[in-house]
Amino acid sequence: MKRWPWLAGIVVLAFGAWLGLKHKSAPAPMSSLNLLLTCDVHGRLVPCGCFSGQLGGLTRIATLFGAKTAGQIRVDAGDAIAGSADYERIQYRYIQEAFARMEYDAVNVGQREAGLSVAQLRELKAQAKVPMLSANLLDKAKGTPLFESHVIVQRGGWRVALVGLLDGRSTGETLGEGLALEPMDLALGRLLPQLKEGADFIVLLAFADEAALSNLARQFYEVDVILGGKVRQPSQQLVRENHSLILATTNEARAVGILEVTTQAPHWLIARKGEVQLVSDQIPQDENIANLAKAYRQEIRQTKLALDDPATLTEDTVPGVQPRNTYAGTESCAQCHPAAYKVWRESGHAKAFATLTALQADADPNCISCHTVGFGTATGYRREAGPASAFLNVGCESCHGPGAEHVQMRKSGGEVTTHLREVGAGDCQKCHHGEFSRPFDYAEFWPHVAHGK
Ligand code: HEC
Ligand code: HEC
Ligand code: HEC
Ligand code: HEC
Repeated sequence: MKRWPWLAGIVVLAFGAWLGLKHKSAPAPMSSLNLLLTCDVHGRLVPCGCFSGQLGGLTRIATLFGAKTAGQIRVDAGDAIAGSADYERIQYRYIQEAFARMEYDAVNVGQREAGLSVAQLRELKAQAKVPMLSANLLDKAKGTPLFESHVIVQRGGWRVALVGLLDGRSTGETLGEGLALEPMDLALGRLLPQLKEGADFIVLLAFADEAALSNLARQFYEVDVILGGKVRQPSQQLVRENHSLILATTNEARAVGILEVTTQAPHWLIARKGEVQLVSDQIPQDENIANLAKAYRQEIRQTKLALDDPATLTEDTVPGVQPRNTYAGTESCAQCHPAAYKVWRESGHAKAFATLTALQADADPNCISCHTVGFGTATGYRREAGPASAFLNVGCESCHGPGAEHVQMRKSGGEVTTHLREVGAGDCQKCHHGEFSRPFDYAEFWPHVAHGK
């Protein structure tokens, strides 16, 4: 028994020496790089939780990526922001913080970010913890780039240039106020001599569709890796085009790209693995990132937002004129439609707001819209009303539309000149779609909330 600490000491020493030797005998540049890619995070710090079995969320991507290893590079290829509204810009700060905690190396400016104004983008840039890149997005008035075109990161013995690009070719896409976009090939063509000088490998983060990604590869043999993009589906497989490896992902933080390459002097890349992985619901959510989502919800609760001002909610109203039809609230229907009311009361729709409260998501505009009545219109749910509001939950009017006129008409006992419109499956799918619902089937869902004829 007494000999054992001794023995342990010797073993530890021997192992240490062996490690040291190993280390000394391998001074050559690291022979592998590992690139981890997100694109189209679309504000998904956490999955919303609208049904179980839901994929995605930065909370799970953080777990999937794990601790950063020596040869790793982590990037986002654009569209991390959910939109240009004030609360979406606030949320972007937390997404940036998440990227920083996940040790991202660079974040490309996507189409959605480029929908912000030049002033808003400057603000995001000033707050960004991970460098935001764009080689071709310009301040229109000055004609100068708004962001750094690239960063150079060191991995092992290699210098890897990460370059940001945004494709603006497709029509119907509008740039934010004060922005201009230079064609990608022009910007890249100008930058390449400098990159070749300063880096061993060139990696493009390109928010561009499949055709445009391939085009970049064909036009520029100097480019080693192209990560995107503005695609409908994540890459089915790694694409090799000219001298480049191309991988793309999308889908609101439900898929990530993983590319492993072996490097060889002077500067060859050999792909070992290139794939897109689904962010499965089996992956535990990282608490560190989940706390950021909580902090966002906390901040948003205390912040006055543009949509809190009814003057901004003029949708289907004439300025200065009271909208013709307004919301009345579910309780005002109960008296005359007791059977329908009873069914509703016992359905999940009647506790939709409590669901948000339990998650502290009841002040988050991203959630309220489908869990209340008429949020975002001048007479529906308003955030400052909180739990005292008459428009909590998925109420009668979430499906039937504003009912004040109906109530008034029916109460007055006078002539009935208008009817509430017919409602059907299409109305359900305004909320029951995509990641917000189990696959919707009217025949299966309706019986749970059935009323009326
Ligand atoms: C586009 C509409 C929509 C948005 C936006 C939305 N939800 Fe939902 N939510 C739904 C629907 C529809 C269901 C019911 C899904 C089902 O039954 O399959 C649901 C269900 C839920 C449930 C499960 C309730 C239960 O008891 O089963 C949770 C939790 C939830 N939502 C939270 C959120 C949060 C948090 C947000 C904001 C991040 C959010 N939702 C945003 C439509 C939405
Ligand atoms: C305004 C958004 C919205 C609309 C419109 C909507 N739902 Fe829902 N639905 C929800 C939300 C939110 C939940 C989850 C409620 C909770 O538990 O928090 C839900 C839950 C459900 C559920 C599961 C709970 C239960 O009571 O069994 C069914 C079934 C359902 N909805 C059917 C329908 C049908 C059928 C329609 C159309 C006739 C419809 N919904 C329209 C938002 C909506
Ligand atoms: C989830 C969506 C939804 C909610 C919530 C809802 N309804 Fe309905 N309602 C429908 C649909 C869909 C129909 C048509 C069903 C059918 O007859 O095929 C309907 C039918 C009706 C009818 C019969 C219409 C007719 O033509 O005679 C009445 C009355 C009615 N609802 C009242 C209410 C009242 C009152 C509430 C609230 C207590 C309510 N509904 C909540 C979706 C909804
Ligand atoms: C003062 C009584 C009264 C109130 C309050 C009332 N209704 Fe009705 N509603 C009626 C009567 C009466 C009818 C016609 C007979 C029927 O379908 O039940 C009707 C019909 C309807 C219909 C069928 C379509 C139509 O317009 O004829 C829907 C849907 C409906 N009501 C929904 C609602 C909703 C939603 C509310 C609350 C916002 C509401 N009602 C409040 C009395 C009322």
